[in-house]
Amino acid sequence: MNTYRDPENACVKLEITTATSNYPIYIGPNLLSQVDFYLSRVFADRIGDLLLVSNETVYPLYGGLVEENLAQSGKRVHRFIMPDGEQFKTWDMAEKILSFALKQRLSRQTVVAALGGGVVGDLAGFAAAVYLRGVPLVQLPTTLLAQVDSSIGGKVAVNHPLGKNMIGAFYHPKLVLSDPAALATLPRRELVAGLAEVLKYGIIWDQQLFNVLEANVEAILSCDSHMLESVIRRCCEIKAEIVGRDEWDQGLRAILNFGHTVGHALENVTGYTVYRHGEAVAVGMAAACMIGVLTGSFSYAEADRAINLFKLYGLPVSLPAETRPKIAAAMMHDKKAVGDALWFVLPKRIGEVALAQFGQQKDWDLVERALDLITD
Ligand code: NAD
Ligand code: GLY
Repeated sequence: MNTYRDPENACVKLEITTATSNYPIYIGPNLLSQVDFYLSRVFADRIGDLLLVSNETVYPLYGGLVEENLAQSGKRVHRFIMPDGEQFKTWDMAEKILSFALKQRLSRQTVVAALGGGVVGDLAGFAAAVYLRGVPLVQLPTTLLAQVDSSIGGKVAVNHPLGKNMIGAFYHPKLVLSDPAALATLPRRELVAGLAEVLKYGIIWDQQLFNVLEANVEAILSCDSHMLESVIRRCCEIKAEIVGRDEWDQGLRAILNFGHTVGHALENVTGYTVYRHGEAVAVGMAAACMIGVLTGSFSYAEADRAINLFKLYGLPVSLPAETRPKIAAAMMHDKKAVGDALWFVLPKRIGEVALAQFGQQKDWDLVERALDLITD
């Protein structure tokens, strides 16, 4: 993985390299008004129409900017605007995108461009992976969460009533353009939800990043552009490194799911409408910290430090009592469940985690105790 400033434009370029793919991630202000330039860099003239997938919130904010820019080179844009919300990240919505593309007779040269947060990115990515057995995908992430996580690494999916992201594929984009200026319109709650994934990188991989997040709460919450850009860049570097080493999620990559076992269960039992994904992950990380304390892998002092920082950023760290009885059963639908056993990512210290398998009754008792400790 290489990182350098793009000489032609004032942005950072990272290169993500896996066994099967290699693509650039550009990070910099106003990239959304230069999409055409970067498309031609990656695709030269091997590009047909564009299928722009966005949602009812993001398209009015940035769709015009992107389309105006693409119009300069005469590209034909077909736009599919979906309703806003995690509850629309479904098989049904993917089918609507595919039917739209078929009705428009879009060819294999069509590039699917996902303009929005992780919901649009995952759904449009899934549609790109299966349309005509796969057409090129470009990610234009507009939330912090999507810029630091979901737009890179190639996981695309839709939700199923029995669990989140259960139907999907590994399908890498050809290009990612992350424009931190787009975060200016992001509601504070969404920014904070994205910060949960940023904090995750600090705990699983990079103590120095955690220290930066601890020392700069105000600057980050007030969207200081230099601070945000450098944090996004560091998170992308970490994700690129992990995905580069374990593209197919056979081992190391599982650490990116720190906090997700309980987090996904919480989202599921509350119907995907109560919590933002990052908020649920924050509760899940608090649970993982307490499981770590009870297993003896993590010190109470470090758990306290981590959970306090989540709170300083305004993230939830506890389970509402009414969700508690349903959480254990929902966890068993997790993709990481094997029979009656579950894998947990547990912290060893801030900056390092390990995978632990929980299958015996005593393990479950311990998980239940940890969940009780974080229940309101
Ligand atoms: P989201 O896509 O729902 O976006 C959050 C909200 O912000 C939405 O209302 C959206 O319309 C709005 N929004 C987006 N950009 C905006 C902007 N610039 N200004 C104003 N409003 C804006 O949620 P998210 O947090 O981005 O993504 C969550 C999804 O990502 C979940 O479905 C999760 O499973 C998925 N995810 C995937 C991966 C992966 O590796 N593929 C990783 C993490 C999360
Ligand atoms: N967000 C988890 C992963 O990409 O593996």
